[in-house]
Amino acid sequence: MTEHTPAPSPTDLTVRKLAIDLSKGFSRHWNGGDAFLTAYANALSMSFPVGEQFFIDSVRNGGKQLPDTPENAELKATVKGFIGQEATHRHLHALYNAHLETQGLVNHWGPRALKRQEMGRRELFDKSDKGYLHELAITAAFEHFTAIFGDQVLESEGQSGDWFAHAEEPLRTLWRWHAAEESEHKCVAFDLYTRLGGNHAWRMRWFGYVCIQFSTDVLRQTVNNLWHDRTLHKPSTWWSAAKFLFGRHGIVWRSARPVWAYTRRDFHPMQVGSATQAAQWLRDHAHQWTAVGAAGAAKA
Ligand SMILES: [Fe+2]
Ligand SMILES: [Fe+2]
Repeated sequence: MTEHTPAPSPTDLTVRKLAIDLSKGFSRHWNGGDAFLTAYANALSMSFPVGEQFFIDSVRNGGKQLPDTPENAELKATVKGFIGQEATHRHLHALYNAHLETQGLVNHWGPRALKRQEMGRRELFDKSDKGYLHELAITAAFEHFTAIFGDQVLESEGQSGDWFAHAEEPLRTLWRWHAAEESEHKCVAFDLYTRLGGNHAWRMRWFGYVCIQFSTDVLRQTVNNLWHDRTLHKPSTWWSAAKFLFGRHGIVWRSARPVWAYTRRDFHPMQVGSATQAAQWLRDHAHQWTAVGAAGAAKA
Protein backbone atom coordinates (compact mmCIF):
# COMPACT_ATOMS: atom_id res chain seq x y z
CA MET A 1 0.00 0.00 0.00
CA THR A 2 1.22 3.49 -0.81
CA GLU A 3 2.31 5.62 2.10
CA HIS A 4 0.14 8.55 3.21
CA THR A 5 -3.06 6.80 2.15
CA PRO A 6 -4.33 5.28 5.37
CA ALA A 7 -7.01 2.64 5.11
CA PRO A 8 -9.41 2.28 8.03
CA SER A 9 -8.07 0.28 10.97
CA PRO A 10 -9.57 -3.21 11.35
CA THR A 11 -12.38 -3.11 13.89
CA ASP A 12 -12.98 -6.81 14.34
CA LEU A 13 -10.09 -8.90 15.66
CA THR A 14 -10.72 -12.62 15.76
CA VAL A 15 -8.90 -14.67 18.37
CA ARG A 16 -7.76 -17.90 16.71
CA LYS A 17 -6.73 -21.27 18.03
CA LEU A 18 -4.04 -22.60 15.73
CA ALA A 19 -4.26 -26.31 14.88
CA ILE A 20 -0.60 -27.20 15.29
CA ASP A 21 1.12 -29.74 17.49
CA LEU A 22 4.38 -28.65 19.10
CA SER A 23 4.57 -31.62 21.45
CA LYS A 24 6.90 -33.56 19.14
CA GLY A 25 9.33 -30.67 18.92
CA PHE A 26 11.39 -29.84 15.87
CA SER A 27 14.92 -30.24 14.63
CA ARG A 28 17.84 -28.15 15.72
CA HIS A 29 18.11 -26.30 12.38
CA TRP A 30 14.41 -26.33 11.60
CA ASN A 31 14.61 -23.24 9.36
CA GLY A 32 15.75 -24.86 6.13
CA GLY A 33 18.87 -26.35 7.77
CA ASP A 34 20.22 -22.79 8.08
CA ALA A 35 21.88 -22.18 11.47
CA PHE A 36 21.63 -18.39 11.32
CA LEU A 37 18.00 -18.17 10.15
CA THR A 38 17.05 -20.67 12.84
CA ALA A 39 18.96 -18.85 15.59
CA TYR A 40 17.50 -15.47 14.63
CA ALA A 41 13.90 -16.69 14.64
CA ASN A 42 14.53 -18.58 17.89
CA ALA A 43 15.86 -15.37 19.45
CA LEU A 44 12.69 -13.50 18.53
CA SER A 45 10.58 -16.31 19.94
CA MET A 46 12.49 -16.13 23.23
CA SER A 47 11.43 -12.50 23.68
CA PHE A 48 7.74 -13.06 23.08
CA PRO A 49 6.32 -14.47 26.33
CA VAL A 50 7.71 -11.58 28.41
CA GLY A 51 7.28 -8.93 25.71
CA GLU A 52 3.76 -9.87 24.74
CA GLN A 53 2.66 -9.95 28.39
CA PHE A 54 3.87 -6.36 28.64
CA PHE A 55 1.88 -5.46 25.50
CA ILE A 56 -1.22 -7.12 26.93
CA ASP A 57 -0.88 -5.32 30.27
CA SER A 58 -0.26 -1.92 28.72
CA VAL A 59 -3.14 -2.20 26.26
CA ARG A 60 -5.48 -3.47 28.96
CA ASN A 61 -4.47 -0.59 31.30
CA GLY A 62 -4.84 1.91 28.47
CA GLY A 63 -8.25 0.49 27.57
CA LYS A 64 -9.42 1.06 31.14
CA GLN A 65 -8.60 4.77 30.78
CA LEU A 66 -10.85 5.05 27.74
CA PRO A 67 -14.28 6.47 28.69
CA ASP A 68 -17.30 4.28 27.88
CA THR A 69 -18.68 6.37 25.05
CA PRO A 70 -20.16 5.27 21.71
CA GLU A 71 -17.19 6.68 19.81
CA ASN A 72 -14.79 4.54 21.88
CA ALA A 73 -16.80 1.32 21.52
CA GLU A 74 -14.93 0.06 18.43
CA LEU A 75 -11.51 0.71 19.91
CA LYS A 76 -12.52 -1.01 23.15
CA ALA A 77 -13.58 -4.05 21.11
CA THR A 78 -10.21 -4.18 19.34
CA VAL A 79 -8.49 -3.98 22.74
CA LYS A 80 -10.19 -7.25 23.71
CA GLY A 81 -9.22 -8.86 20.41
CA PHE A 82 -5.63 -7.65 20.75
CA ILE A 83 -5.33 -9.15 24.25
CA GLY A 84 -6.76 -12.45 23.05
CA GLN A 85 -4.41 -12.65 20.06
CA GLU A 86 -1.29 -11.81 22.04
CA ALA A 87 -2.28 -14.28 24.76
CA THR A 88 -2.43 -17.10 22.19
CA HIS A 89 0.93 -16.03 20.75
CA ARG A 90 2.47 -16.12 24.23
CA HIS A 91 1.08 -19.56 24.89
CA LEU A 92 2.43 -21.14 21.69
CA HIS A 93 5.80 -19.41 21.88
CA ALA A 94 6.20 -20.59 25.48
CA LEU A 95 5.76 -24.20 24.23
CA TYR A 96 8.19 -23.48 21.40
CA ASN A 97 10.72 -21.98 23.84
CA ALA A 98 10.44 -24.96 26.18
CA HIS A 99 11.64 -27.11 23.32
CA LEU A 100 14.54 -24.73 22.64
CA GLU A 101 15.66 -25.31 26.24
CA THR A 102 15.82 -29.04 25.63
CA GLN A 103 18.10 -28.27 22.67
CA GLY A 104 20.51 -26.55 25.09
CA LEU A 105 19.69 -22.93 24.23
CA VAL A 106 19.51 -20.39 27.04
CA ASN A 107 17.03 -17.52 27.04
CA HIS A 108 18.80 -14.38 28.30
CA TRP A 109 16.56 -11.89 26.51
CA GLY A 110 13.31 -12.71 28.34
CA PRO A 111 14.71 -12.34 31.89
CA ARG A 112 16.61 -9.17 30.90
CA ALA A 113 13.47 -7.61 29.40
CA LEU A 114 11.50 -8.52 32.51
CA LYS A 115 14.05 -6.78 34.76
CA ARG A 116 13.82 -3.67 32.59
CA GLN A 117 10.03 -3.69 32.74
CA GLU A 118 10.12 -3.98 36.54
CA MET A 119 12.60 -1.15 36.80
CA GLY A 120 10.54 1.03 34.43
CA ARG A 121 7.41 0.50 36.51
CA ARG A 122 9.21 1.09 39.80
CA GLU A 123 11.17 4.17 38.73
CA LEU A 124 8.87 5.83 36.22
CA PHE A 125 5.49 4.44 35.19
CA ASP A 126 4.04 3.81 38.65
CA LYS A 127 5.21 7.23 39.86
CA SER A 128 3.41 9.10 37.08
CA ASP A 129 -0.35 9.55 36.75
CA LYS A 130 0.19 9.12 32.99
CA GLY A 131 2.42 6.05 33.33
CA TYR A 132 0.00 4.07 31.17
CA LEU A 133 0.81 6.40 28.25
CA HIS A 134 4.54 5.64 28.52
CA GLU A 135 3.80 1.93 28.50
CA LEU A 136 1.52 2.33 25.51
CA ALA A 137 4.14 4.33 23.61
CA ILE A 138 6.64 1.49 24.20
CA THR A 139 4.10 -1.09 23.08
CA ALA A 140 3.17 0.93 19.97
CA ALA A 141 6.86 1.13 19.02
CA PHE A 142 7.39 -2.63 19.44
CA GLU A 143 4.17 -3.32 17.56
CA HIS A 144 5.52 -1.23 14.69
CA PHE A 145 8.50 -3.59 14.46
CA THR A 146 6.39 -6.74 14.73
CA ALA A 147 4.08 -5.40 12.00
CA ILE A 148 7.02 -4.60 9.69
CA PHE A 149 8.40 -8.12 10.20
CA GLY A 150 4.92 -9.58 9.82
CA ASP A 151 4.37 -7.78 6.53
CA GLN A 152 7.77 -8.89 5.22
CA VAL A 153 7.14 -12.51 6.15
CA LEU A 154 3.83 -12.50 4.29
CA GLU A 155 4.81 -10.46 1.24
CA SER A 156 7.89 -12.60 0.56
CA GLU A 157 6.09 -15.94 0.91
CA GLY A 158 7.18 -18.14 -1.99
CA GLN A 159 9.50 -15.43 -3.36
CA SER A 160 13.12 -14.33 -2.91
CA GLY A 161 13.78 -13.18 0.62
CA ASP A 162 11.23 -15.57 2.16
CA TRP A 163 12.42 -16.06 5.77
CA PHE A 164 10.61 -19.36 6.14
CA ALA A 165 10.80 -20.76 2.60
CA HIS A 166 12.25 -24.09 3.74
CA ALA A 167 11.10 -24.11 7.35
CA GLU A 168 9.76 -27.29 8.93
CA GLU A 169 6.19 -27.62 9.96
CA PRO A 170 4.66 -26.77 12.37
CA LEU A 171 6.97 -23.78 12.84
CA ARG A 172 6.42 -22.45 9.32
CA THR A 173 2.69 -22.19 9.99
CA LEU A 174 3.25 -20.81 13.48
CA TRP A 175 5.46 -18.00 12.22
CA ARG A 176 3.20 -17.05 9.31
CA TRP A 177 0.08 -17.09 11.47
CA HIS A 178 1.85 -14.89 14.03
CA ALA A 179 2.99 -12.59 11.21
CA ALA A 180 -0.57 -12.28 9.92
CA GLU A 181 -2.01 -11.42 13.34
CA GLU A 182 0.74 -8.89 14.06
CA SER A 183 -0.09 -7.17 10.80
CA GLU A 184 -3.80 -7.41 11.54
CA HIS A 185 -3.67 -5.78 14.99
CA LYS A 186 -0.88 -3.29 14.32
CA CYS A 187 -3.07 -0.22 14.98
CA VAL A 188 -4.46 -1.05 18.41
CA ALA A 189 -1.72 0.22 20.74
CA PHE A 190 -1.04 3.20 18.49
CA ASP A 191 -4.72 4.20 18.26
CA LEU A 192 -5.11 3.85 22.01
CA TYR A 193 -2.04 6.01 22.63
CA THR A 194 -3.29 8.82 20.39
CA ARG A 195 -6.93 8.57 21.58
CA LEU A 196 -5.74 8.95 25.18
CA GLY A 197 -3.80 12.10 24.29
CA GLY A 198 -0.29 10.67 23.86
CA ASN A 199 1.99 13.18 22.16
CA HIS A 200 4.55 12.96 19.36
CA ALA A 201 7.55 13.89 21.52
CA TRP A 202 7.11 10.96 23.92
CA ARG A 203 6.23 8.63 21.06
CA MET A 204 9.61 9.53 19.50
CA ARG A 205 11.56 9.16 22.74
CA TRP A 206 10.23 5.69 23.36
CA PHE A 207 10.64 4.74 19.72
CA GLY A 208 14.35 5.65 19.90
CA TYR A 209 14.68 3.60 23.07
CA VAL A 210 12.92 0.60 21.52
CA CYS A 211 15.01 0.79 18.32
CA ILE A 212 18.23 0.57 20.32
CA GLN A 213 17.04 -2.07 22.79
CA PHE A 214 15.43 -4.27 20.17
CA SER A 215 18.34 -4.30 17.71
CA THR A 216 20.88 -4.94 20.48
CA ASP A 217 18.82 -7.63 22.20
CA VAL A 218 18.01 -9.59 19.05
CA LEU A 219 21.67 -9.56 18.04
CA ARG A 220 22.91 -10.65 21.47
CA GLN A 221 20.42 -13.50 21.75
CA THR A 222 21.08 -14.68 18.18
CA VAL A 223 24.84 -14.78 18.80
CA ASN A 224 24.26 -16.61 22.07
CA ASN A 225 22.02 -19.16 20.36
CA LEU A 226 24.67 -19.76 17.70
CA TRP A 227 27.33 -20.15 20.36
CA HIS A 228 25.32 -22.81 22.19
CA ASP A 229 24.62 -24.42 18.81
CA ARG A 230 28.39 -24.47 18.07
CA THR A 231 27.78 -22.82 14.71
CA LEU A 232 28.89 -19.29 15.61
CA HIS A 233 32.28 -19.61 13.96
CA LYS A 234 31.19 -21.37 10.78
CA PRO A 235 31.61 -19.33 7.56
CA SER A 236 28.18 -20.54 6.34
CA THR A 237 26.56 -18.90 9.39
CA TRP A 238 28.14 -15.54 8.64
CA TRP A 239 27.35 -15.80 4.95
CA SER A 240 23.69 -16.44 5.76
CA ALA A 241 23.65 -13.53 8.24
CA ALA A 242 25.17 -11.18 5.66
CA LYS A 243 22.60 -12.22 3.04
CA PHE A 244 19.69 -11.95 5.48
CA LEU A 245 20.71 -8.50 6.72
CA PHE A 246 22.40 -6.84 3.74
CA GLY A 247 21.63 -8.97 0.68
CA ARG A 248 19.46 -7.89 -2.25
CA HIS A 249 16.34 -8.65 -0.22
CA GLY A 250 18.07 -7.87 3.08
CA ILE A 251 16.00 -6.95 6.09
CA VAL A 252 18.00 -3.75 6.64
CA TRP A 253 17.01 -2.28 3.27
CA ARG A 254 13.45 -3.56 3.41
CA SER A 255 12.85 -2.17 6.89
CA ALA A 256 14.51 1.24 6.61
CA ARG A 257 11.61 3.06 4.99
CA PRO A 258 8.76 1.73 7.16
CA VAL A 259 10.87 2.16 10.31
CA TRP A 260 11.58 5.78 9.39
CA ALA A 261 7.91 6.40 8.56
CA TYR A 262 7.12 6.05 12.26
CA THR A 263 8.91 9.33 12.97
CA ARG A 264 6.43 11.41 10.96
CA ARG A 265 4.00 13.54 12.94
CA ASP A 266 1.09 12.34 10.82
CA PHE A 267 2.12 8.68 10.93
CA HIS A 268 -0.51 5.97 11.28
CA PRO A 269 0.25 2.21 11.11
CA MET A 270 -2.16 1.76 8.19
CA GLN A 271 0.09 3.97 6.03
CA VAL A 272 2.73 1.24 5.71
CA GLY A 273 2.56 -2.39 4.69
CA SER A 274 -0.36 -4.08 3.05
CA ALA A 275 -3.93 -3.65 4.24
CA THR A 276 -5.05 -6.95 2.72
CA GLN A 277 -2.32 -9.60 2.71
CA ALA A 278 -2.80 -10.65 6.35
CA ALA A 279 -6.54 -11.14 5.80
CA GLN A 280 -5.75 -13.06 2.61
CA TRP A 281 -3.31 -15.39 4.40
CA LEU A 282 -5.80 -16.01 7.19
CA ARG A 283 -8.53 -16.77 4.65
CA ASP A 284 -6.28 -19.09 2.65
CA HIS A 285 -5.33 -20.98 5.83
CA ALA A 286 -8.74 -20.99 7.49
CA HIS A 287 -8.55 -24.80 7.73
CA GLN A 288 -5.61 -24.39 10.15
CA TRP A 289 -7.37 -22.34 12.81
CA THR A 290 -10.66 -22.01 14.65
CA ALA A 291 -12.10 -18.81 16.03
CA VAL A 292 -12.38 -18.79 19.81
CA GLY A 293 -13.84 -15.28 20.23
CA ALA A 294 -12.24 -12.29 21.88
CA ALA A 295 -14.23 -11.94 25.09
CA GLY A 296 -12.81 -14.80 27.16
CA ALA A 297 -9.24 -14.05 26.19
CA ALA A 298 -9.33 -10.69 27.98
CA LYS A 299 -8.61 -12.69 31.14
CA ALA A 300 -5.03 -13.42 30.02
FE1 LIG B 1 2.23 -11.38 19.00
FE1 LIG C 1 1.35 -7.65 18.49
